[in-house]
Amino acid sequence: MKVVLLPGDGIGPEVVAEARKALAAIAPEVEVSEHLIGGEAIAREDEALPGATLAACREADAVLMGAVGSGDYSWTTSNAEDGMFALRRELDVYANVRPFRTEEIDLLIVRELVGGLYFGARGVREDGTVFDTCEYRPDQVDRVLRRGFEFARARRGKLTSVDKANVLATSRLWRERAIELAAEYPDVELDHLLVDTAAMRLVQAPESFDVIVTENTFGDILSDIAAALAGGLGLAASASLGDDGPGLFEPVHGTAPDIAGKGVANPTAAIRSTVMLLDLGLGLAGEAARLDAALDRVAATVFTPDQGGTATTAEFGDAVVAALTASAKELADA
Ligand code: IPM
Ligand code: MG
Repeated sequence: MKVVLLPGDGIGPEVVAEARKALAAIAPEVEVSEHLIGGEAIAREDEALPGATLAACREADAVLMGAVGSGDYSWTTSNAEDGMFALRRELDVYANVRPFRTEEIDLLIVRELVGGLYFGARGVREDGTVFDTCEYRPDQVDRVLRRGFEFARARRGKLTSVDKANVLATSRLWRERAIELAAEYPDVELDHLLVDTAAMRLVQAPESFDVIVTENTFGDILSDIAAALAGGLGLAASASLGDDGPGLFEPVHGTAPDIAGKGVANPTAAIRSTVMLLDLGLGLAGEAARLDAALDRVAATVFTPDQGGTATTAEFGDAVVAALTASAKELADA
């Protein structure tokens, strides 16, 4: 089995290094290689997604990405984020799955990842008008809605489809398709929320949600709200899945330039993304469960600054490896 690591920019390399340690400890047989993406790749190869990186990803069984972004928002040059968008699109990982868990909350956001505003035509006209377009084809909507229904079916059977059908044409299509597909999933209870109401409900009653399925931009925003409710961006993991080909696993957080290079970023999101990689990417459910449990144990006692503690990124990662070793020993002794 092959896993490609894409450390990327900012805190990406720091958190991916800890995920790599955890992966090596739990599944030493997995072959790991590292490649360039984002600002690092532009600096060294003049391309945000070098051909060699894409080729390695295509050949891998799963890809773990740290974060990309250079804070360069000029629109004349290619920026670091373009590397990530190109990778999402090339791998066609259309379903971005983001779980959020606390004692009260257990919700999953399924965000459409390769369509909508992120990938529509954009530009500037002669008169200075700037535009971004949002487009969705019915089959693009159907395939991600189906993922939503399937996750809901495997969980508590409740699916909330989020749109802005009181305004947007793409949202009307979205709602129409959701209603139509619901007939194929009689065991799933479907409801619809407008995105502004969904944002409010998330803050007021996050425990009322099971699975949320929504388009790209709404999913981006709602998942940061959910992350804030569930311990912050340092904890939030994600899996981006297509129909075949490797999945792309990455923290929900960005490059965190304010703390990059200081060794204090919380690697939980990256390690939890590795749990998802083991389970959904490599089919190693047992290893995934053991890493998940080790991570839970450490997260209850070791705190990086975002969680009010003083542990460094590496101390946290080392504690996860130690917890894995201890649990393996307990198993062997039992
Ligand atoms: C995310 C991030 C990215 C996105 C940014 C870094 C472009 O916010 O994965 O949620 O908007 O997709
Ligand atoms: Mg985001």
